[in-house]
Amino acid sequence: MCGIIGAVSQRDIAGILIDGLRRLEYRGYDSSGLAMLDDKANLICLRKLGKVQFLVNEFKKHTIIGSTGIAHTRWATHGQPSKKNAHPHISEYIAVVHNGIIENHQKLRTQLKKLKYVFTSETDTEVIAHLTHWELQKGGTLLEGIQRVIPQLHGTYGAVIMDSRTPGILVGARSGSPLIIGLGKDENFLASDQLALISITRCFMYLEEGDIVEVTNRKVRIFNQNGIEIKRKLIKSNIQYQDNIYDKGIYCHYIQKEIHEQPDAIKNALADRLDNHNRVILNELNKKAQNLLSKIEHIQIVACGTSYNAGMVARYWFESLSGIPCDVEIASEFRYRKLAQRKNSLFITISQSGETADTLAALRLSKKLNYLLSLAICNVIGSSLVRESDFSLMIRAGIEISVASTKAFTAQLTVLLLLVAYLLRLKNKNIALEHDIVKALHVLPFRISSVLSYKDIIEVLAKDFFDKNYVIFLGRGDQFPIAIEGALKLKEISYIHAEAYAAGELKHGPLALIDNHVPVIITAPNNKLLEKLKVNIAEISSRGGILYVFADKDAGFVNSKNIKVISLPYVEELIAPIFYIIPLQLLSYYVALIKGTDVDQPRNLAKSVTVE
Ligand code: F6R
Repeated sequence: MCGIIGAVSQRDIAGILIDGLRRLEYRGYDSSGLAMLDDKANLICLRKLGKVQFLVNEFKKHTIIGSTGIAHTRWATHGQPSKKNAHPHISEYIAVVHNGIIENHQKLRTQLKKLKYVFTSETDTEVIAHLTHWELQKGGTLLEGIQRVIPQLHGTYGAVIMDSRTPGILVGARSGSPLIIGLGKDENFLASDQLALISITRCFMYLEEGDIVEVTNRKVRIFNQNGIEIKRKLIKSNIQYQDNIYDKGIYCHYIQKEIHEQPDAIKNALADRLDNHNRVILNELNKKAQNLLSKIEHIQIVACGTSYNAGMVARYWFESLSGIPCDVEIASEFRYRKLAQRKNSLFITISQSGETADTLAALRLSKKLNYLLSLAICNVIGSSLVRESDFSLMIRAGIEISVASTKAFTAQLTVLLLLVAYLLRLKNKNIALEHDIVKALHVLPFRISSVLSYKDIIEVLAKDFFDKNYVIFLGRGDQFPIAIEGALKLKEISYIHAEAYAAGELKHGPLALIDNHVPVIITAPNNKLLEKLKVNIAEISSRGGILYVFADKDAGFVNSKNIKVISLPYVEELIAPIFYIIPLQLLSYYVALIKGTDVDQPRNLAKSVTVE
């Protein structure tokens, strides 16, 4: 989950490295660093604990000019966040930045210590630096040294290595953690993702598993794991990129901006996908995909975190609307358990980043199993998940910068609902229902705007929560995953412990937690489960619980001593999950603001979880 950028050019690359680090900060932000070779080939290394801005401030105090360099923003795995654990790691003339985990680092550390190497950090990465140094003592080029180092490493890595004795050369290696080559004119780059380089080049090559690359300003040579020189496809990126994506506009935080961008994100997700006859068009799914999809008898969804919660909502939709049996599983569980294979099954992964290690591993595993086809629901064009899936549907939410996912979640749900409607027609099922879904999707951006206008009411409500230690979220049916997602948002950005339950499950244990210190948040659309939900609410209320009910205005709730009702506008039942997460996102945001937490970069987290 760390961010990597490396550059070899004829011009000064300091600005490119710093700018790249800022764009990569979403991948990890506990420390950062860079190493550059100045015009006399001196290796200069700067490292700083904390945000990239601290490194920038440090950088400004020095005059460093150079045309070969590497930089890194870290999310700690081995060794706590500190200056000494920040990358690059140095072994005399070798500098290394690394994303991933070297699983046999302890063994290598012991061996290297016996060879008199002195370790200055607690990281697994430092072994790569010393091991490279050791191998190069035996002779050969940096590339040859790395080709000898790589077979000794077990685990995952995207790494870039530089040797101050040979300026103008970078060597990169990939296994398990992404690494891409950015091609420029008389300059070339390496990075953990396109975003780091998109302002300087549109031409990319993706390294495949096991690849090692040698990059100079004029030439790129790629070798596969057998040491054979190979070519990788050149990709012209069409990522929409504006220089001002880091501009918060009228908002104070990215998460606030992203919450308010949801009507537009959903419009983008729907653009060109609904026709004038209330039908869904998914151009990404060609004849072959359509043919395979028409045969599916089961859907397996695999994802992590918020994307998994989107999958849980989709399960309710797939089963109740299209009648297709659906299972949803957390990727880290799916990949390690023995599976009973279903017949004619569609394998769906959901991911904002498309780089989540567990989700990717699950996709790779699915290829060895008997799925009819794999389909990625993803936000990042060109991500590993998209490239490795048979087909993909982009959610088009736009770049999501805040670590806690908001607009990607509602855009994922929008695309999943499109898919439900699409399958209805493909499988000659309920065409009237397809039309109803399309009609509901047409009004969805407007419904989201209407609920966003409750922000002031929710801001006031947040004062009831900021001093609480524990909050319970409840929902029934497709609102149960919304309760889970609401609890996740509160945990992530306000650090208040929150737990979600299916409302009907309360009396089977969690009811023991209810007292007048634990607020209970419930979403209550006006649907067929409303009367059941009211019984659950009465159970809590009669035990002195304090309830906050986000309810449809016609659901018949009234405020009482211990029930606060937030009366929300009408929403079509089909899109109610997408609607009801909005007030919960806003509540988490305002509670976190009062608590003064870092809402965009919560402690211990990173946006893209590229390690297991
Ligand atoms: C929560 C959050 C995480 C991600 C999870 C999966 O707000 O952002 O739980 O949803 O790490 O990430 P993606 O969707 O990139 O696979």
